[in-house]
Amino acid sequence: MSKNKFIAFGNVFDESTLRGLFYLTGQGYFEEVEGPISIGKESNVFAVLHKDGKRVVKIYRTSANFKKMYEYMKPDPRFSGMKGTKLSIIYTWAKKEYRNLLRAREKDVHVPMPYAVHKNILVMEYFDAPLLLHKAPKKPQEFYERLISELQKLFRAGLVHADISEYNILNDKEKPVLIDFSHALDLRYPNVQRLLQRDVHNLIVYFNKLGLKLDEEKEFMRIWTAKN
Ligand SMILES: Nc1ncnc2c1ncn2[C@@H]1O[C@H](COP(=O)(O)OP(=O)(O)OP(=O)(O)O)[C@@H](O)[C@H]1O
Ligand SMILES: [Mg+2]
Repeated sequence: MSKNKFIAFGNVFDESTLRGLFYLTGQGYFEEVEGPISIGKESNVFAVLHKDGKRVVKIYRTSANFKKMYEYMKPDPRFSGMKGTKLSIIYTWAKKEYRNLLRAREKDVHVPMPYAVHKNILVMEYFDAPLLLHKAPKKPQEFYERLISELQKLFRAGLVHADISEYNILNDKEKPVLIDFSHALDLRYPNVQRLLQRDVHNLIVYFNKLGLKLDEEKEFMRIWTAKN
């Protein structure tokens, strides 16, 4: 695709990100940028076109709060060798989301398939589905049970999402798809229990508003004790 088409999306792509996008198109991960899906605080998400259909690229801003990222990743044994420079921390953050998605995927958790990560850019599967925030489930109890089953699988994969809410779940024809895995943590991480409790709390507040009568401790234990 032409360089102008990338540049047409304004100042969201710095020079290094532009080069990264060219590299990924050269490798055949996508052909061109279709348009923005979401402009966030730490990242921008775009729909891109690939010959097999749409894909998503998530681009972490090189101006992201890398100190917070560093503090968050430091206790994770998977990243103990991480270097402390700004760009390398942001690149590690993107790689972490890629690896988390892959690991979840290997255990059949319903998450976008990650195709590639290069520098601050992650390429993944696109779901044509609204956020749970924008489309509440028709049958909350059924949807909730499906969600618990996804979170149990994720736990068995050795991960806690750590940023679960109606903002990071897609409603894909009444089936949950979990997204936004940059915060997801290995079970060896300190405080992992508290982070899972927070995830469960967010879910329960949401689903109890829809009329369910879920007990936080009981629902937490369903995930915490999920066995292989
Ligand atoms: N695989 C996907 N398919 C379809 N839409 C997606 C996909 N991934 C992300 N989105 C859309 O983009 C939005 C932002 O993505 P995501 O939640 O991963 O990043 P974010 O919340 O901006 O993350 P951060 O807080 O790190 O900046 C989502 O709310 C969703 O609407
Ligand atoms: Mg999000």
